[in-house]
Amino acid sequence: MTQTNAQRPVPSPTPADVQGWVVRGYNLGHVRQVICTIHNPEPLRTFLGRATNGDPSTQQIQSGEHWGDVKPPSALNVAFTYTGLAALGVPARTLAGFPTDFSHGAPARAIKIGDVGDSAPDRWDAGTDDIDKVHVVWTIHGQQSDDIDAAWNKLAAATGSSMSVVASYDGSALADNKVHFGYVDSISQPHIESFERDNPAPDKQPVAPLGSFFLGHDSQFEDVKFDLPTPTEFVGNGTYNAFRVLEQDVFGFEAFLRRAAEETGRDPEWIAAKICGRWRNGNSLEQYPDHQGEPADPATRNDYGYPDADGSICPIGSHMRRANPRDAAIVQRAANHTRRITRRGMPYGPLIAPDQEPDDTPRGLLGNFLCGSLTAQFEGVQYDWINLGLQHPSITGTNDVLLGANEELTSRFTIPMPDGPDLVLSGFPRFVRTRASTYTFLPSIPGLRWLANAAM
Ligand code: HEM
Repeated sequence: MTQTNAQRPVPSPTPADVQGWVVRGYNLGHVRQVICTIHNPEPLRTFLGRATNGDPSTQQIQSGEHWGDVKPPSALNVAFTYTGLAALGVPARTLAGFPTDFSHGAPARAIKIGDVGDSAPDRWDAGTDDIDKVHVVWTIHGQQSDDIDAAWNKLAAATGSSMSVVASYDGSALADNKVHFGYVDSISQPHIESFERDNPAPDKQPVAPLGSFFLGHDSQFEDVKFDLPTPTEFVGNGTYNAFRVLEQDVFGFEAFLRRAAEETGRDPEWIAAKICGRWRNGNSLEQYPDHQGEPADPATRNDYGYPDADGSICPIGSHMRRANPRDAAIVQRAANHTRRITRRGMPYGPLIAPDQEPDDTPRGLLGNFLCGSLTAQFEGVQYDWINLGLQHPSITGTNDVLLGANEELTSRFTIPMPDGPDLVLSGFPRFVRTRASTYTFLPSIPGLRWLANAAM
């Protein structure tokens, strides 16, 4: 990250200026994320020009503007890797201004963020670890899978042989916004300055400054704007995304809950709540310390902090408290609220039924973690906090149970008890394996127009 410099100022973005899913969840039930290689930039640039010309009769990149009461059948967004921008003809002097997390790309950062062992790049889906092939990620949300097919077919017809597909992933929402492992998700999201709140679950956390999601503006760190390559017409108001295909060992997780329940004499649902920080019905432990209760009012269920300094209500090592410590006392005191990320996720694979026999059907999450700095936000959460637990001495050296890089020999999760010794769960493996990971840049809508017209 750099201090402010003398570049042309970036105008504050309006919803029409930015790619829509940075600022709001679409609530369309299906998604397809397609990783492609660019072979010939010209047809692609022509497509980008048409897709940002505001003509509703042609397929447009979805901006943050509201579509009103009638949802469209599909919504298209696009993001590029560093090598993808080069393949599109972005000049070397512009490329040179991007930060190294993005320019090195996800495979090079794997060890840092815990993509090791079975999650290492050489175990990812074929081609997805090859930065010379991974250029662009298209994201199409749709009301139905047929709507996605129709949008993809149009895009493929318009771009012809200028691209080839490296990998394609389809996800669909599960009932009640659940994700695999059985938890309700998509409750807590940051509120970005000057944009409407993105979800109906308000909280009292500070509003995220524009620069923590859009390049060119004051970030969450005093006097710091994140690296802003020139020209600012292209890069300004752009956002980074860590797109991760995360395979979940659902049967392994359920078996662990049952074992932990037997060992501790507790209810498996209580163990599941302590691991996440929310009961599986979405209620937070802070608001429902002893029982899960009926699903709470969406207007209040996210409005809480962590007054229990010892973690006796919500364990300090729980997924949510690690990923966003809110107002909790942490070692890196100045870091509270500075690593907020917007999460856009969609599960893939069918939900398991209670007592279902294990099968080999792939299940997991298409996870997108949007931010203004991959290092300061996504990696800071994933590396320092989810793995390592550097925010609190009592969990340092341990990993998140839900998705950390755990090994049976060393894994440990402490549940502090209000009146009695801590409960310690151990011997659990890693439940989430990385199948693919890309670091991409989502240009603003004017940035996409610049790519269409002015790159090279
Ligand atoms: C398969 C993988 C994952 C699962 C099953 C999972 C599950 C969940 C669930 C159930 C919640 C609570 C719902 C909510 O408050 O919206 C949550 C919250 C959250 N997760 Fe994850 N998650 C996963 C991966 C990740 C990753 C990779 C990150 C970041 C590196 C992350 C960061 C967060 C954050 C920041 C929150 C919100 C915390 C808050 O605002 O209080 N999660 N996750």
